[in-house]
Amino acid sequence: MTTGVDLGPQAQAIGSDEDVVRVRQMVRAVAVAVKLSLVDQTKVVTAASELARNTLVYGGGGSAEVTTVDNGRRKGVRIVFADSGPGIADLDLALTDGYTTGGGLGLGLSGSRRLVDEFEIETSAETGTRITVTKWSR
Ligand SMILES: Nc1ncnc2c1ncn2[C@@H]1O[C@H](COP(=O)(O)OP(=O)(O)OP(=O)(O)O)[C@@H](O)[C@H]1O
Ligand SMILES: [Mg+2]
Repeated sequence: MTTGVDLGPQAQAIGSDEDVVRVRQMVRAVAVAVKLSLVDQTKVVTAASELARNTLVYGGGGSAEVTTVDNGRRKGVRIVFADSGPGIADLDLALTDGYTTGGGLGLGLSGSRRLVDEFEIETSAETGTRITVTKWSR
């Protein structure tokens, strides 16, 4: 018997548009489970959607892992996006509003960073890109 609140890690491969939708659904479910407000649910789902799309388009596919986090005071949702793509050569530039190498709006990374509480990127040409985001309940 599960309570529905204590969701363990959930992994989702990202190889298609449908997978991006699945990531959105997983993030929404965990955000609800940790009692994020409706506004914060939408923020973290939007960020996850952008990052999943980047994983697909620029990373050549990869994965998302969604977990609950608990710091003793608050709960939250954490998502790790990983790909084995070419990496991001100039991270500062990539995080600039409007910068795109793919003809997009160039708002995915910069916008995502603003929508979450914690945002970490590890990237290299050898290992690809790993982005970890966290949104806490308040
Ligand atoms: N996982 C990734 N691997 C390699 N490069 C990436 C990755 N994610 C982002 N980038 C690079 O960073 C740039 C900026 O990403 P961002 O999401 O902000 O913009 P975009 O995807 O080009 O446009 P938008 O998301 O607004 O449609 C991308 O154009 C791409 O060059
Ligand atoms: Mg993008």
